[in-house]
Amino acid sequence: MRTGQARLASAYVTTVRLNASDSRSVETDALVVGIHTSPDGPRPAPGAEGLDTALTGGLAATLGALGFSGKAGELVKLPTFGAVPAPVVAAVGLGPAPEDGRYEHEALRRAAGVAARSLAGTARAAFALPTATAEDAEAVALGALLGAYTFTRYRTGEEKTPLGEVVVLSAATGAEESVNRAATLAEAVSLVRDLVNTPPSDLSPARLAEIAEETGGKAGLTVDVLDETVLKERGFGGIVGVGQGSVNPPRLVRLEYTHPEARSTVAFVGKGITFDSGGLSLKPAASMPWMKSDMGGAGAVLGALLAVAKLGLRVNAVGYMCLAENMPSGSAQRPSDVLTTYSGKTVEVLDTDAEGRLVLVDGITRAAEDDPDLIVDVATLTGAQIVALGWRTCGVMASDDDLRGQVVDAAVAQGEAAWGMPLPDDLRKGLDSPVADIANLNPERSGSMLAAGIFLREFVPEGVRWAHIDMAGPAFNKEEPHGYTPKGGTGVITRTLVALAERYEPGRDA
Ligand code: BES
Ligand code: MN
Ligand code: ZN
Repeated sequence: MRTGQARLASAYVTTVRLNASDSRSVETDALVVGIHTSPDGPRPAPGAEGLDTALTGGLAATLGALGFSGKAGELVKLPTFGAVPAPVVAAVGLGPAPEDGRYEHEALRRAAGVAARSLAGTARAAFALPTATAEDAEAVALGALLGAYTFTRYRTGEEKTPLGEVVVLSAATGAEESVNRAATLAEAVSLVRDLVNTPPSDLSPARLAEIAEETGGKAGLTVDVLDETVLKERGFGGIVGVGQGSVNPPRLVRLEYTHPEARSTVAFVGKGITFDSGGLSLKPAASMPWMKSDMGGAGAVLGALLAVAKLGLRVNAVGYMCLAENMPSGSAQRPSDVLTTYSGKTVEVLDTDAEGRLVLVDGITRAAEDDPDLIVDVATLTGAQIVALGWRTCGVMASDDDLRGQVVDAAVAQGEAAWGMPLPDDLRKGLDSPVADIANLNPERSGSMLAAGIFLREFVPEGVRWAHIDMAGPAFNKEEPHGYTPKGGTGVITRTLVALAERYEPGRDA
């Protein structure tokens, strides 16, 4: 059954291209330049020199007079009065100039994002930010494209269109490929954002599975979908148990990408609760509205597999999307019900709101059958993650310290904040159940981000390398936009998973 329209891609797609010409000569509706802070006031960054000269060296003085210091996040727009072809300049703060001249990619991404957001309604903008290397150009392109993202599908009034076209001004060798790569990553992240932002009435498990089939098929992935009948037959008790209270039945999607030169297989498993009401252990009303983001993990897995395929990475990758809607009803599971997971282990469901771990363990057991070199699960799993690390930093747990470090490093390098967390053995005891093999939570609730990790670990077969990313907070931005992050769905961890897959290409030391 299909609810709502099959409106899949963003209504607006910002395009990107590379241009090696100078900021003084490029025909565009707006020109973006970077400005550094310095003890003597704002200072034009590399890329801004042409404009500075055209304005007869007056850029820094003008900005200073306007109270603009060049701090990261600052933005001011100026008319150019014919000094360059672009009628408007957007000056964006980059903070202090790096001493070694090498820019942090995240600083470039954020600055480009801030500028792109300020240019909504503009047809084309040229970004003359510092891009000495192809990686710098990728960062600028990616930040600009992600910053330009908007979700207007459900608006009917007049709406500003987002920035239409991003032109990255760079003469760096290899920048062409980098800019294309940025476009691929931005497309994947934008899809994930769209999915998170879509109202749950238009994104049932079946509909999300259908979107995975459509987009995955186009990208050359092999996509298999198990429906509720098959899930029951094959014993996916976790996914079935969580999904049984909803009129929208559950699904398990398997996405597969292979490359002939691959030497490793990575497996990603995503929590895909299309709406988490808590089930019979109903959530308070105030915490429900953003529970449409509870499929963010599955979204990230889909986005990552699409990007891995489009980038043609020399790795094998499988993705599992564990999809269910957690609703209360006469057919819903009850607190104290016992379910038998796909692994054969039984779980006493003490709280139906601790549902993510129930669907994930079925996905993890299934993923282990593919004999991967590692399994990474991604989930908006616990409120405790937000208590411990705040809204923007993911918690990372793993079967070994090396892998946990790899995941944290991959995330941080993408500008996706993450921090390693322990899996203390003493927390296992709290999950003892008087009737089943394990309970789905410790009623005492202490350390519950870690307890959730411990629960998952019980289902990871001996010898399998596994990492778990809890992104309950980071998946959804309830506050104002910042950098290249909009309000609402963030698409976070999609790029981290791609970066991880890349580490497992032959010749890289994963
Ligand atoms: N989906 C929630 C976790 C969540 C909380 C995501 C806030 C995003 C923002 C999860 O299913 C949940 O309800 N977790 C419970 C677990 C508890 C019952 C052990 C929680 O964290 O309170
Ligand atoms: Mn829940
Ligand atoms: Zn949930």
